Amino acid sequence: MGFNIAIDGPAGAGKSTIARKVAEKLSFIYVDTGAMYRAIGLYMWRNKIDVNDEKTVEEACQKVEVTIEYQDGEQQVLLNGDNVNAYIRNELVGELTSKISTYSVVRNKLLELQRDMAKKGDVLMDGRDIGTNVLPEADLKIYLTADTKVRAQRRYLELQRKGIESDIKEIEEDIIERDLRDMQRKIAPLKKAEDAIELNTSKLDINEVVDIVIDLVQEKRKK
Ligand code: DC
Repeated sequence: MGFNIAIDGPAGAGKSTIARKVAEKLSFIYVDTGAMYRAIGLYMWRNKIDVNDEKTVEEACQKVEVTIEYQDGEQQVLLNGDNVNAYIRNELVGELTSKISTYSVVRNKLLELQRDMAKKGDVLMDGRDIGTNVLPEADLKIYLTADTKVRAQRRYLELQRKGIESDIKEIEEDIIERDLRDMQRKIAPLKKAEDAIELNTSKLDINEVVDIVIDLVQEKRKK
């Protein structure tokens, strides 16, 4: 059995940036579960499915297959055989995805895939319910947070770097709405696992957080 790290937390807390760096430094496989949910969200958007109607989403889900591949160490998400990595990272898909991931049919579709991935060796997986639901026996669990204003600011700068102008107030409102939905849903809501270590990254830069996580892994491995 490999070593499993679970990183959970709200949108924009820096999970994927931190996870990618830690995984690279420690030679772990990085599994981004948000990307898997986003692939299903993308399908719903492309096929104009009403995401507020669970029955319709359920039917549509029967036509969806999500698989994972790795290219040069980077996770690639395939939607019905097509690589959709380039199309899933935008606010619209994020919003849709947060809605459909409240449905059990969507979550059940991905749960086994995620658990299978964790068996592949030393794996670092990030998402919303990894420490609580997907990998309750993970060797190390981290709950990554940051203040809402800081998260909105980071998202704003990220969009600006991509040449996209946005409204910081709107971003903040979207973040608050998404957090609430992810935390209040009935199935596998976002919450800190009892045995997770909480890290608030508001006042830390990326490398500081990466170093803290690596220290935590090394401490656990000694035991
Ligand atoms: O981490 P992200 O922004 O890529 O995730 C997009 C959405 O997917 C998030 O708002 C809720 C859902 N998600 C989930 O329900 N469970 C996970 N383990 C990962 C993501």
